[in-house]
Amino acid sequence: MCKTLFKNTRNKFLNKWVRVLLISLGLFGLTRLYFKMTDDFRLSNISYNMPYRHEWEVPSLPKEEQQQLDNILDQKFYYVGKGAQSYAFKSADDKYILKFFKFKHLKPSVFISLIPPIGPLKVYKDKQRERKHRLLNSVFDGYRLAYNIHAHEAGLIYIHLNKSVNLHKIVAVKDKIGIERQVDLDQVPFILQEKANTTRAEMMTLMGAQDMSGVKKRIQQIFDLYLLEYNKGIYDRDHGVMHNTGFVQDRAIHLDVGKLTKDERMKNSAYSKPDFLQVVHKLNAWFKLNYPEYHSTINVYMEQQMQKMFEEIPVR
Ligand SMILES: Nc1ncnc2c1ncn2[C@@H]1O[C@H](COP(=O)(O)OP(=O)(O)OP(=O)(O)O)[C@@H](O)[C@H]1O
Ligand SMILES: [Mg+2]
Repeated sequence: MCKTLFKNTRNKFLNKWVRVLLISLGLFGLTRLYFKMTDDFRLSNISYNMPYRHEWEVPSLPKEEQQQLDNILDQKFYYVGKGAQSYAFKSADDKYILKFFKFKHLKPSVFISLIPPIGPLKVYKDKQRERKHRLLNSVFDGYRLAYNIHAHEAGLIYIHLNKSVNLHKIVAVKDKIGIERQVDLDQVPFILQEKANTTRAEMMTLMGAQDMSGVKKRIQQIFDLYLLEYNKGIYDRDHGVMHNTGFVQDRAIHLDVGKLTKDERMKNSAYSKPDFLQVVHKLNAWFKLNYPEYHSTINVYMEQQMQKMFEEIPVR
């Protein structure tokens, strides 16, 4: 009798824990599915009540350009993808990209705000907040810098980093699962940019067609883009050239300028060369992985072009 009672109690206990485990696994699975299907694009993830910064303001556009901007934004936009810091949508005419910032990564998380500001916890909380503010400032500064001195080469048409009251524009965007959202552009930071074919996609097309001279031409255009940046005293701290650069028709652009940084020393080729070698390394690694049979030809070509670019310094 006592043994049976013990067995029943143990079974009930186990059943309870099995249920808890199954429910937890179910919830975990649903959450994963939600993230996979939607990339967690929500209006609250692209909004942030951040402090106004004068440095982020841009001059108002001349009337004609303002009209052009309005026309572009009157189109519907469709989800393209996400990066670590942004969500990208393409316009119905397939010419433009509207980028919103992913504040999920750029603002302190709710968990941080729940930490009580006492003792060592306060130190930790302040550090985390500071880290996020620095990240946000550096991404916005990158876009502001590009808009200022590198707008054409970054395909930038307009940037809006502070909240405003004068755009009066609600744009319709369709998210990853096709749900339409209305975004009040005065309320959120955004970037409007020319739509590019990423260097990765471009190279895949050219390699697929075995168009080696096309590949070489594109590599040279990318090299020229980086060289132009060094000559302007700017460089990209992110060397992910395959997905952060691309082509708009026949023009190379730097489509992700969230890590663009001013450094006058880059004008000196001895100083910029190590940075450039990192870009070349990324290109090399990509070709080696994806097209090993062509890798050595492409590598030789890049070495030759580099010799010409950095003539006075022997190439490693
Ligand atoms: N101008 C553009 N044309 C075409 N696709 C674009 C453009 N801008 C962004 N994208 C797409 O959106 C993705 C994310 O954009 P972007 O690289 O600007 O954001 P990010 O969050 O800073 O990315 P990262 O992961 O490099 O930090 C890109 O990998 C690219 O696929
Ligand atoms: Mg990127």
